[in-house]
Amino acid sequence: MDKIIIRGGRKLRGSVAISGSKNAALPIMAASLLGDTPAYITNVPCVTDIRTMADILAALGAKVDFPSPHEVVIDPSGLCNPTAPYELVRKMRASICVLGPLLGAIGRARISLPGGCAIGARPIDLHIKGMKQLGAATRLSHGFVVADGTGMRGAEVFLGGRFGSSVLATANVLMAAVKARGVTRIEGAACEPEIVDLTHFLCAMGARIDGIGSHTLRVEGVRKLRGARHKLIPDRIEAGTYMIAAAITKSELLLKGARADHLRAVIEKIEEAGVGIFESSGAIRVNGKGKRRVVDVTTHPYPGFPTDLQAQMIALMTISPGISVITEKVFAERFMHVPELNRMAASIFLEGSSAIIRGVKSLSGAPVMASDLRASAALILAGLVARGETVVDRVYHIDRGYENIEEKLRGLGAEIERVR
Ligand code: UD1
Repeated sequence: MDKIIIRGGRKLRGSVAISGSKNAALPIMAASLLGDTPAYITNVPCVTDIRTMADILAALGAKVDFPSPHEVVIDPSGLCNPTAPYELVRKMRASICVLGPLLGAIGRARISLPGGCAIGARPIDLHIKGMKQLGAATRLSHGFVVADGTGMRGAEVFLGGRFGSSVLATANVLMAAVKARGVTRIEGAACEPEIVDLTHFLCAMGARIDGIGSHTLRVEGVRKLRGARHKLIPDRIEAGTYMIAAAITKSELLLKGARADHLRAVIEKIEEAGVGIFESSGAIRVNGKGKRRVVDVTTHPYPGFPTDLQAQMIALMTISPGISVITEKVFAERFMHVPELNRMAASIFLEGSSAIIRGVKSLSGAPVMASDLRASAALILAGLVARGETVVDRVYHIDRGYENIEEKLRGLGAEIERVR
């Protein structure tokens, strides 16, 4: 198993290219199943979740080619098998987003239940509710969701859940509705930039969708969709992670390709934390050389502060002078990184779904264990400023969603290497 070794204390400088969005890519790749002709997607990040989605689509009968590492061509004409198997779904819970496209494309789906993971229970009740409201018959059988969508038609669907909207439930219902006869209104829809990117892709395929970017989507079903060409949006979570890398190391970085309009809540909090953020066309410059301040942060669905940057923000607060409170409102149990950061001499207490962080003067490098994708990013960020050596184990988590993180950081001056 690979490990990442970081010797902390180096300043970073220079520019880093932000990759395409993994979370936009996954549902868009799945949506390609709905077309009659191949889809051509560019700015695809080179991360393992993309390969897992490619394996799932191939298992379903689609032909998936990567003409270059950042481009994928998906030909859905061979789609025949409705089953997404446990071996693939357990690797990546986002595999559930083939449910809607399978129902739209071949009228049936059999998807292994995803189960829980390090960030807590991952229920799919909203996905199932949405499909039922569209008229699909669904049942659970031997660990699989089995759905028959032959009777699907446009309907009123409400997707508000206990924790607000759901990104992938919105994607699933949208992808099932675009080919369902009649009009569907989705209330309580997620409005994350990745959902907007998906709607743009679906519209390029011939779908009719109104209300794009809002909590109410109106979909007029069409009989046929065709493959489309699409360039994915930049990864706002990767951009936010490098913003925090500049802040934590008190460095200045240029994030090429990052979109500030997708990062408003993050930019506001990072500025409050004493960091200068300068927007220019096609890039964001981050100056972390100022005096650090503590900030309180609460995660929310978009446009709120993203849960996917909560762990990294905690890492920044561990060495900011004062006490900060970071509250998790999306995945209440997502704090596996906290005990690991405390092993690096951070001072964090958990109180329900809040982390109370007392800033310390310095962190101390230690062997630590990555538990999930964003937690591993937080440990690497902490390692960049810790005294001595930090060894992050189980880095396959980070490879799921960050393209070449150690190469990118090394290019910026960090002392970081991967050992196999
Ligand atoms: C997506 C992102 C993930 C991000 C999350 C929240 C992808 C591939 N993944 O995951 O990186 O952390 O959004 O921004 O895009 N919930 C239910 N019932 C459901 C579905 C969700 O109760 O049927 C709850 C979840 O447990 C969670 C909240 O709703 O508390 C939001 O989850 P959701 O938006 O669905 O996350 P994902 O779409 O799985």
